[in-house]
Amino acid sequence: MTDAPDRPRHTARYFSGNADSTADGRLFAPVFGRNFPAVLAALAPWLSGRSGAVLEIGCGTGQHAASFALAFPNLSWWPSDPDAGHRASARAWAAELGAPARAPLALDAATDWATDTAVTTLGPLSAVVSMNVIHIAPYAVTSGIINGAAQCLQADGLLIFYGPFIETGQPTTAGNASFDAGLRAENPAWGLRDVTDIRREAAALGLGFAALIAMPANNRLLIFRKE
Ligand SMILES: C[S@@+](CC[C@H](N)C(=O)[O-])C[C@H]1O[C@@H](n2cnc3c(N)ncnc32)[C@H](O)[C@@H]1O
Repeated sequence: MTDAPDRPRHTARYFSGNADSTADGRLFAPVFGRNFPAVLAALAPWLSGRSGAVLEIGCGTGQHAASFALAFPNLSWWPSDPDAGHRASARAWAAELGAPARAPLALDAATDWATDTAVTTLGPLSAVVSMNVIHIAPYAVTSGIINGAAQCLQADGLLIFYGPFIETGQPTTAGNASFDAGLRAENPAWGLRDVTDIRREAAALGLGFAALIAMPANNRLLIFRKE
């Protein structure tokens, strides 16, 4: 995999220069292996009784998408990412792990993605999931995910964010504060997002707060339910 010179910096996390990759295009996020078991255990009560389509926004390597597809066979888990290399990796991970082959959507969450026919053909969504995305992207991506989810989710559908957050006006730990400062130094439009802002935007669009779950490594699951 080669890095196109005009690729936006927000997709730099898994480029060949800073990530292992294989000939089939699979990319590896080392943190996946450390955090996935806890994320799976925490989401099982929310997802295992569901059916229908789940749209994952910013799938990155696609390790989560393939693993969730296998863990929740009643759900049709659709990965998406604006980066072609990440979509190729998601396809390759599904093949490697024997997960259903679902062509990853080329979706930029800062756009009006809910009206994209690639999304509307999935039907009303059972869940929209976005992990480790909104702090490494402009705030328009946070708003875009909330807006799109409000349009696409079925009644009772879930919007699920995972990652580090600001709560009560502060990053939750000194480590997260330093991570936040580093992100903002790299790109002033990036940074940890405040749960209060997300809750306010979601509530205004009919997405009721359902849970804020503490996870290992100072991460959180932030879950909303369409009313
Ligand atoms: C740090 S990676 C996280 C990937 C994966 N969800 C995970 O947890 O390993 C951030 C991902 O967000 C994607 N991303 C960045 N901007 C985006 C946007 N505007 N819309 C959708 N995804 C975006 C990047 O391409 C990248 O794959």
